[in-house]
Amino acid sequence: MNVEMPKALRGMTVLTVSSVHHWTDRTFSFTTDRPASFRFRSGEFVMIGLVVDDKPLLRAYSIASPSWDEQLEFYSIKVEDGPLTSRLQHLAIGDEVVMRPKPVGTLVLDALTPAKRLFLFSTGTGIAPFVSLIRDPETYEKFDEVILSQTCRDVAELDYGKAIVAQIESDEMLSEVVDGKLRTITTTTREESPRKGRMTDWIRDGRLAEATGAPLSPETDRVMICGSMAMLQDHKALCEAAGMTEGSNSEPGDFVIEKAFVD
Ligand code: A2P
Repeated sequence: MNVEMPKALRGMTVLTVSSVHHWTDRTFSFTTDRPASFRFRSGEFVMIGLVVDDKPLLRAYSIASPSWDEQLEFYSIKVEDGPLTSRLQHLAIGDEVVMRPKPVGTLVLDALTPAKRLFLFSTGTGIAPFVSLIRDPETYEKFDEVILSQTCRDVAELDYGKAIVAQIESDEMLSEVVDGKLRTITTTTREESPRKGRMTDWIRDGRLAEATGAPLSPETDRVMICGSMAMLQDHKALCEAAGMTEGSNSEPGDFVIEKAFVD
């Protein structure tokens, strides 16, 4: 099949869309088949997209499904005039997307040293790598407590994360593995909800420490951060202020960061 592909598409894998769910007017998720030969670590991202005028139009997408899953899942923003997402949001079952099958990224368990608590801080679609990790048994082998945090503008934008947590709770095998170790702390910034404000403010003023029992500490905690550039910088500064050092695949550390953005 590769032989018939236009030159620009050589080395790419064609995936067939198996489901699409629109969560809000700004966000949607979709699943595709997973080629048997395609391996990745939970939390990694790949380049995916569409073929436009015989050329691939690709963006970096976190794989939202865990590494054991038979399907691939992606969670996307819809940007009205975004080159890719303005098209991608019209995906339907049976449509094809293309993927460069080279998963990479630092939001992986291998990039963190051992500790007791794992904090996963996200805003908006930055939750995608974390809904992969919270469905991976290895996360619970390595940490006693996993705290998933997502801050969104509106309450409805929290629905995707809520649905994944509900899926974990209703899955007999996974809920046994998780065994009460997973906690979710969601906040909204522009709509009233039980928890209001940016998580960065929650860390600064002690609300997160109160909710989780102790402030962030390099002795007990590891952190993964995924969101906009400004969000990454603010969270990174808070980790560094707590005495944490940034990790990578080659040199595991206390916290890791990755930008979540497509247009
Ligand atoms: P805010 O409403 O105060 O800007 P977006 O939808 O624009 O990507 O934002 C997603 C969420 O991330 C919003 O709730 C937004 O809050 C929050 N946010 C934006 N910038 C930062 C930041 N620097 N640190 C923490 N949260 C942020």
